[in-house]
Amino acid sequence: VSSRIPGRVIKAYLSLNRRIWARLPLSVRLGASGRAYGRHLHGLVQQLSRRFQSHGTFFLRNRAELELMCRLQDKKPPGSGLRLSILACSKGAEVYSILWALRSARPDLKISTWALDISAEILKFAEKGHYTLGGPEVGNGDVTGSAPKTTDATWKDQPVSIFERMTCEEMKAMFQVAGDHATIRPWLKEGITWSAADANDPALVHILGLQDIVVANRFLCHMAPEAAEKCLHNIVRLVKPGGFLFVSGIDLDVRTKVARALGWIPVPHLLKEIHEGDVSLKNGWPFEYWGLEPFCDDLPDWKLRYTAVFQIGQAATTRQDQTPDLGVPALQR
Ligand SMILES: C[S@@+](CC[C@H](N)C(=O)[O-])C[C@H]1O[C@@H](n2cnc3c(N)ncnc32)[C@H](O)[C@@H]1O
Repeated sequence: VSSRIPGRVIKAYLSLNRRIWARLPLSVRLGASGRAYGRHLHGLVQQLSRRFQSHGTFFLRNRAELELMCRLQDKKPPGSGLRLSILACSKGAEVYSILWALRSARPDLKISTWALDISAEILKFAEKGHYTLGGPEVGNGDVTGSAPKTTDATWKDQPVSIFERMTCEEMKAMFQVAGDHATIRPWLKEGITWSAADANDPALVHILGLQDIVVANRFLCHMAPEAAEKCLHNIVRLVKPGGFLFVSGIDLDVRTKVARALGWIPVPHLLKEIHEGDVSLKNGWPFEYWGLEPFCDDLPDWKLRYTAVFQIGQAATTRQDQTPDLGVPALQR
């Protein structure tokens, strides 16, 4: 229906509803009718918004994601290899956070990491692993981005610090700090291949080879739904049979559609924690297109809808009725 209503009418409707929403008590917003109302508004916002990419990111952005990635390694024999690809890695915060978590949990693993982003410029910045402290990296934009202003050591496009979600102890473990600069410790920079690449590129699988884990977080939501769907179909080709795909920050309808069509197995462990684990996405709902609706297990397809981690491939398609056993073996074959 809304495709036949002029955009300016929907904008006015949303503006009115923003005021109504702001007055609703939290208990109402989180109740069944409040969530349905929010989903209705968010659907309109997604339809109307001009989507744009950004480089906004955080260290230790979603702790539950990191925890699950470590648990997936629990039963791997000592000294095993792990092939990991992180797409759309932006300033490197996600890459270093994952490697810090994995290497702290399993220092014996031989991890080879591809860190990819479509922007060669941001990758150069990420590879240096050199950041400024000194409070928020203030720019003109919001957390989803604005024109970046770069200096040697920072990239001023987000209103809050890239370190915002870290404790002092974690800062000390990951960085060498001198003056107002923090540099990633050398042990976290080992084994990373930084490469400018488009996640849409069908040749990617030939360049990277099949991966045990592919991470494709928080960039597909900035694409139009059809483009995101197509890109996701390409990304999943990188995962080896029985391997795992981490994909959050994408329209839930798109992810659910592709997951269902390709028979991915949702990994239920920490499902809710991961869904709720990124406070900026949570706070952006329902009036930002990239906002994430609250978890709710009374929707019929909630397991598929809210899962951000899937087991993929031959092993997955033959075992759709099963819950992946984290220790088993997909990664050990
Ligand atoms: C919001 S950042 C996400 C950073 C990180 N993944 C995270 O979750 O914090 C989005 C990044 O996606 C990159 N990007 C956008 N389109 C891409 C594509 N088609 N292929 C690879 N990277 C892409 C952008 O350059 C940007 O650095």
